Amino acid sequence: MSPQLKAAFATEMQQAKRYFRAGEIDSAFAHLERAHILGQRDTLRHTWSHWWMLRVGLHRRDWREVRGQVLRMVAALLFSRIWVPEGNTGGSNVAPLRPMPIPADLRELLKTH
Ligand SMILES: [Fe+2]
Repeated sequence: MSPQLKAAFATEMQQAKRYFRAGEIDSAFAHLERAHILGQRDTLRHTWSHWWMLRVGLHRRDWREVRGQVLRMVAALLFSRIWVPEGNTGGSNVAPLRPMPIPADLRELLKTH
């Protein structure tokens, strides 16, 4: 990962955690989705983004999300270096293998990877 991509991932995660701690869970999840897009080629960062989505699922008592995130964490550990669906936002509300359009600001960062 490029330094710019690492920094952008870290910023998204910091914002997600800040919103999570403030109880603004929807905003936290939106930043986790952006972090997921940025970090999914890196095994630890990818898994870390899913770990926080799992925490959101637990907070919401959304067992579908929790189950989905457990499965996605296993997949992240096994496949991040092999293949990832570009642009996938990582929540259980989207199919885990489906590539998705990448927001324009993130697309530029991903070119640097
Ligand atoms: Fe993922």
